[in-house]
Amino acid sequence: MTAGSGCGWAAGVLGVVCLALQFDSISCDSQKMFGTVNGSVTFPISSSVPFTEIMWTKNRDKVLEWEAGSPIRVFPPFVDRVHLDTTSGSLTIFNLTASDEADYRLDSLSTGDTLFILKVIGPLPSPTLNCTLAAEDITVNCRIPESYEFTQYLNYSWNCFPALCKNGSNMSEVLIKKNNDLSQEIHCTVKSPLSKQTSSLVLATCVPDGAHSRYRFAIIPAVALVAGITFFLFKRGFPKCGRETESTDPS
Ligand SMILES: *[C@@H]1O[C@H](CO)[C@@H](O)[C@H](O)[C@H]1NC(C)=O
Ligand SMILES: *[C@@H]1O[C@H](CO)[C@@H](O)[C@H](O)[C@H]1NC(C)=O
Ligand SMILES: *[C@@H]1O[C@H](CO)[C@@H](O)[C@H](O)[C@H]1NC(C)=O
Ligand SMILES: *[C@@H]1O[C@H](CO)[C@@H](O)[C@H](O)[C@H]1NC(C)=O
Ligand SMILES: *[C@@H]1O[C@H](CO)[C@@H](O)[C@H](O)[C@H]1NC(C)=O
Ligand SMILES: *[C@@H]1O[C@H](CO)[C@@H](O)[C@H](O)[C@H]1NC(C)=O
Repeated sequence: MTAGSGCGWAAGVLGVVCLALQFDSISCDSQKMFGTVNGSVTFPISSSVPFTEIMWTKNRDKVLEWEAGSPIRVFPPFVDRVHLDTTSGSLTIFNLTASDEADYRLDSLSTGDTLFILKVIGPLPSPTLNCTLAAEDITVNCRIPESYEFTQYLNYSWNCFPALCKNGSNMSEVLIKKNNDLSQEIHCTVKSPLSKQTSSLVLATCVPDGAHSRYRFAIIPAVALVAGITFFLFKRGFPKCGRETESTDPS
């Protein structure tokens, strides 16, 4: 009975995993892989049984085939661009191009079919931070150059405490109250599935010189104090000055 309920539980979990994967891609045993243009990617296979034959296909076209005792036959456009580990069955593709983006399948009697869905993305550029000033807030924007066409895979994060930052309209934007300490730097990190890039901005550069609220609050009392002292000295000194002027004027 315990074994039965355990099985049911496991089947339930498997069902949920399969469902999640189906939403994400195609079938239960497919794996989404990412590679960078000009980089390489390895489709990992871990077979406990030694292979006697291997065939890898790209959207049903042969990439390579191998039989124990024979050399590996590689087909265009993969000649000189692939490596097959005949022990594990793993395939590595080098010098990736955008046209390598496809579904890759290992056909083997030893492991059954294994499917990989390859996405080839460009190298991630550095983001640019930009800010706009409104009445209450500074809006900081984290931008990836518009020429980068793989923005759907990107994820943004900020080094910002909730006390300082509010979420903007999307992940690439935050709002900062102007009355914060604007001498600090804010960092935006952009993450692709393969790498990440961080850029930063000093918040004080977002506000015009002199409009910095902290300084203004410090300057107003200082100016008032100087004005007060000047006025006090002037009032006390004026009669003395006047008398001296009188006494030094013989005519
Ligand atoms: C890929 O390599 C080629 C040749 O070395 C180069 O012209 C091209 O700019 C590279 N592309 C990227 C995205 O790095
Ligand atoms: C792959 O790129 C390397 C440099 O990254 C280059 O030396 C090599 O010639 C390229 N191979 C092919 C087949 O383009
Ligand atoms: C904000 O971006 C615009 C164009 O995208 C640029 O002209 C401007 O200099 C940037 N401002 C800052 C503070 O970086
Ligand atoms: C962004 O990254 C976090 C942590 O890696 C992850 O939990 C989240 O789902 C990602 N969001 C998107 C939209 O990719
Ligand atoms: C801001 O966004 C993050 C991630 O999207 C979320 O975890 C957090 O709850 C949001 N905060 C507010 C105040 O909406
Ligand atoms: C975030 O929103 C701003 C303005 O609302 C828009 O210009 C920008 O493209 C959006 N960025 C993303 C990653 O959706």
